[in-house]
Amino acid sequence: MQIQRVTNSIGAEVLGLDLRVPLSDTIKNELKRAWLQHQVIVVREQEIDVRQHIEFARIFGPLDSDSAVSAFSHPEHREIFVLTNETTDGKPSETRDVGWQWHTDLTYTLCPSAGAVLHAQSVPDCGGDTMFASMYRAWEALSPGMRSMLKSLECVHDVSNGAWYRKRAENAPKSFISRTRPVLQPMLHVHPETGRESLRIGEAVVRRIHGMTDDESAPILRFLTEHATRPEFVMRHRWRRGDLLVWDNRCTMHKVVADHDDVVAPGTPGRIRRMHRVTLKGQPSGRLLEEDGRQAA
Ligand code: SIN
Repeated sequence: MQIQRVTNSIGAEVLGLDLRVPLSDTIKNELKRAWLQHQVIVVREQEIDVRQHIEFARIFGPLDSDSAVSAFSHPEHREIFVLTNETTDGKPSETRDVGWQWHTDLTYTLCPSAGAVLHAQSVPDCGGDTMFASMYRAWEALSPGMRSMLKSLECVHDVSNGAWYRKRAENAPKSFISRTRPVLQPMLHVHPETGRESLRIGEAVVRRIHGMTDDESAPILRFLTEHATRPEFVMRHRWRRGDLLVWDNRCTMHKVVADHDDVVAPGTPGRIRRMHRVTLKGQPSGRLLEEDGRQAA
C-alpha cells in the first residue's frame, strides 16, 4: 500500500489496495493514521458491495446509523445515507441537492459526525465533483489577533438557514425537522484525536455569530469562508465509479460542485450521480440555542 498526497494542505490517495480482500490490522491502522494526517483519503475504483462498504467504514470509528439524516437511509441498510439525483416513480429525490454549500456534517445537531465514507455508485460523465477545505490550515493561517477574537465565540448553526432546507420549507421529513433545533458551536474546534486546532464555520447552516447582529456577523463570516476556501487550502475530487473517499469531519468542510443535473430519469447513463455515505459517530459538541440565557442581539 502506498500513500500519495494530492495537495500540500489536504488529501491523499491510497494506492495498491483491493477492498474485496480482507485487510490486516496493520493496514487498517495505517489507513486510520493516513486519514488523521491527511484529513481526506481516497481509494480509487473499488467494486465492493454495501456490506463491504459498511465494514470498511468501521476502521475509522463507530458508525452513526441514527442521526438526523437517517430520514434518508437506504431501505435495507440504515447505516447508508443515499444521495442521488435519480427520480423514482416520477418523484425527484429529496437528496439530489444535499451538500451544495460549504458545510461540516451535522454541526446543526449536538453530535456533529466524526467523518464519513462515501462510495460512488454512479457518476455523471462530468461534473458533480466534491471539494474539501482544510480547516486546520484555515485556522493556522489567521493572524494571532483574529484567532484570539474567534476563540471565545460561538456560531448559531441552524439547518433552516441552508439553501437545501429553504427550498423545501415545511416539506422536509418530520423526523429530520424534529432533530434539528438551532445549536451553538464554538468557532475554535480542537480535534479529539490529533489535538490540533481548526476553524469551525459553514456556509449552509451558520446563521450568525452568537451575540452579534446579522449585519455585524455577516462580513466576518464571509471573510472567513473566503479565507478557508482559498485554492491552496482545498482539494477537488473528480469522481470515478467505485471511488471510496473518507473525510475527517472534525477538521474539514466540503461541498458538492453543483454543475451536474439535479433531476434525472432512471436509466440515463452518464447523468446519474448516486453516492452511498456511511456516517461516523462524533462526540457531543455545542448546546441548544434556546438554552442560552442571553438573547441574541
Ligand atoms: C455530503 O455528504 O455533503 C455530500 C457529498 C457528496 O455527495 O459528494
